[in-house]
Amino acid sequence: MRRLAGRQLLGRPHAFAAVAVAGVLALTGCGGSDSDGSGSGPDGEADLSVGSAYMPQPVSDMAAGFLVISNKGGTADRLTSVSSDAADRVTVHETVDGAMQEVDALGIPAHGSLVLESGGNHLMFEQLTRKPKQGQKVSVELRFAHSDPVTVEIPVKPATYTPKHGH
Ligand code: CU
Repeated sequence: MRRLAGRQLLGRPHAFAAVAVAGVLALTGCGGSDSDGSGSGPDGEADLSVGSAYMPQPVSDMAAGFLVISNKGGTADRLTSVSSDAADRVTVHETVDGAMQEVDALGIPAHGSLVLESGGNHLMFEQLTRKPKQGQKVSVELRFAHSDPVTVEIPVKPATYTPKHGH
């Protein structure tokens, strides 16, 4: 279920080099890369839309959010930051080998999609300003490296909710 995209951010194994630079390479995979693979090609700009969004009703002072960002355009983009009316701080996390970690950005490929799903990439709502309840909606603004911001109203689902996957 875990997508492999995150792995591409990790440094390739440099067994000997890593020793030489005091082993810091292992932690440099969290999105510090500047290569976003984008650039305005002849195929036009990124054309983003957001679907399948939901938030499981939080059971603590943090909440997770899931959604799919589709890109019909011919240029890649990146999800760079998120804010919400329900939390003072929203971060973007990826999950690698079962452990989640904050990343600076997640890529949205041209003619492809960025999937945030349970067990994988997700939004992390920290410092909740209110406790979202099942049936309510949470407003979220997604900001990108190139495209205009997109605001989505994310429905709050039961804490145990898992979407039916079409694949
Ligand atoms: Cu997380």
